[in-house]
Amino acid sequence: MSLLAALRSTMAADGPMPFEEFMAACLYDPDHGFFTTGPLRSVKTGDFLTSPEVSPAFGTTLARFAAAERERLGAAGFTIVDLGAGSGSLLRPLLDALDPAPEHVFAVEASPAALEALGWIDGVTVCASIDELPDRIRGVVLANELLDNLPVRLAVRTGDGWEERWVGIDGDGLGLVAAPARPDTAAWADAYGGDVAPGGVVEVQLAAGEYVAAVVARLEAGALVASDYGGTVDELEPRRGRGTLRTYRAHHLGPDPLYEPGTTDITVDVNFTAMVAAAEAAGATVELNRQDDFLTALGLRDDIRALRDRELELARDPDRAIERLRVRSERTDAETLLHPRGLGDFRVMVARVPGT
Ligand SMILES: C[S@@+](CC[C@H](N)C(=O)[O-])C[C@H]1O[C@@H](n2cnc3c(N)ncnc32)[C@H](O)[C@@H]1O
Repeated sequence: MSLLAALRSTMAADGPMPFEEFMAACLYDPDHGFFTTGPLRSVKTGDFLTSPEVSPAFGTTLARFAAAERERLGAAGFTIVDLGAGSGSLLRPLLDALDPAPEHVFAVEASPAALEALGWIDGVTVCASIDELPDRIRGVVLANELLDNLPVRLAVRTGDGWEERWVGIDGDGLGLVAAPARPDTAAWADAYGGDVAPGGVVEVQLAAGEYVAAVVARLEAGALVASDYGGTVDELEPRRGRGTLRTYRAHHLGPDPLYEPGTTDITVDVNFTAMVAAAEAAGATVELNRQDDFLTALGLRDDIRALRDRELELARDPDRAIERLRVRSERTDAETLLHPRGLGDFRVMVARVPGT
């Protein structure tokens, strides 16, 4: 039975389903979920490309952040965790660059294909959920492009408040149906929706906020570094007409999420104002940066300059043309991480727990 058929049969019995339950089924259903079945998604042959898949410089640059945290916290028990670690393209270069190796390394993944790939990295313990992590972590917890996948509720602005959109049966398929806003949906939309005209859509990211709070609660000392597309309430306001919910498949924007459930990534722009508030409420001190600024402060632009110098040097020797091309491609991939309208425009939230 397809996921569409399974969802329609559940809805025939129970009525329309809250959007976050529908999204969770599309992404994580054990038999049909986009992440829980099928191949690795965040690779060149998959459905989207992320910073660490574009360039290993993302991992080597974050290794400097980790090294500085280790300096601050001490090496005893120092731990690296990668949440939604994908193929391991962030962990591998980071661990290669971090000398000495951290005492503990964990990779958390919802995808069995990703867990299999991560299991091959030396010294990495793989976990299917943050519940399997140690209760108290000293170190750095990374989450690149994870928060945008956590299931959202959909709130639509009415003249005097909010309505939700749930998913119900519509003809042979599925359709959105209006439902009264639950009190916590309305409270979140009031706090983080911004100034939205009637009919405007806000993705209510309660689950992502709870996830951030749960991770910060496990940090005895150290930092959560969460990078993703999105922005603050004010930055997201211009997109509140139709909202930011979208799908990806095979590196392109995919169909309406209701059409072929389970066959596409479903994602939203992360509301970082809400994530910062969740991390602060859990006890962290938080900074929000653009990715280009964050990586520049950690020395990536200097590395790129060094690669350019190396290229010029190699250009003088015709016998080293292949090497020059390799350095050039390394440089251009690293530059992609800083593109001001692309990956450089991502946000990086650093939520720090000072510890003792
Ligand atoms: C967009 S990919 C990013 C992968 C990797 N961080 C990178 O930057 O290449 C999102 C990853 O998060 C994983 N994922 C999604 N939801 C998750 C969850 N709730 N817990 C753990 N992993 C999750 C997916 O399986 C997928 O590998």
